[in-house]
Amino acid sequence: MKTLIVANWKMNPSTKKEAKKLFDSVRKSTKGIKNIEVVICPPFVYLSLFSGLKLGAQNVFYLSADRQVKKSGAFTGEVSPLMLKDLGVEYVIIGHSESRKYLNETDEVINKKIKESLLIGLKPILCVGETDEEKNSGKKLEVLEVQITQALKGVMKSEAKNIVIAYEPVWAIGTGNNCSVDETMSSILLIRKIISKLYNREIADTTKIIYGGSVDSKNTNSYITQTGVNGLLVGGASLNAEEFIEIIKSL
Ligand code: PGA
Repeated sequence: MKTLIVANWKMNPSTKKEAKKLFDSVRKSTKGIKNIEVVICPPFVYLSLFSGLKLGAQNVFYLSADRQVKKSGAFTGEVSPLMLKDLGVEYVIIGHSESRKYLNETDEVINKKIKESLLIGLKPILCVGETDEEKNSGKKLEVLEVQITQALKGVMKSEAKNIVIAYEPVWAIGTGNNCSVDETMSSILLIRKIISKLYNREIADTTKIIYGGSVDSKNTNSYITQTGVNGLLVGGASLNAEEFIEIIKSL
């Protein structure tokens, strides 16, 4: 299984010029790398500017919940899975804690987005993770179980292989307070157990699970070699071309 390194640019950078510069630096420096799958998730408006690296979107809309694909519709401001697929986008981040928090994205909406993306052939990167408060009150397992079970409701065994799960403890995102190796390892095991309960052992063992939360070039290697993750979701550090390239080269 190739290690998956996903850059989540969030709402950055502020100009097309900067976005192109960042993308080109990463593209040039990662040419010829075979053992790592690098995916760049820029804001929607930059997606069509890029080629030469795999692309992911940071969000998507759903048109219906009933497994019927509508190509377009009256949904002001939204972007459909088909539009992304048509641009050559392969992945889509769904359920990021910032979307849950600022856009009030619920587990039900996340589930719709996942099902619709799968139907179109996009690979969802489902983000899950507990807050500081939930961690301190011993609710991590419960939170992960609810988030994953709800998000994957109605997702068939045959579709599950196209899902990536990103374990992103909310308290570790953008704080510099990255999750320890031991804690990450135990969370990854919990997630595999939840998937095993939902599907089966084989799917649990082969589902790509990645970690995100204050990843940088110094901690990258320990996550990949010591925690059982299959890759990383990188926010802040992916905005600095040198640092992001360092992350990839440290593997
Ligand atoms: P961070 O963000 O690397 O800046 O902590 C990760 C994420 O939110 O995906």
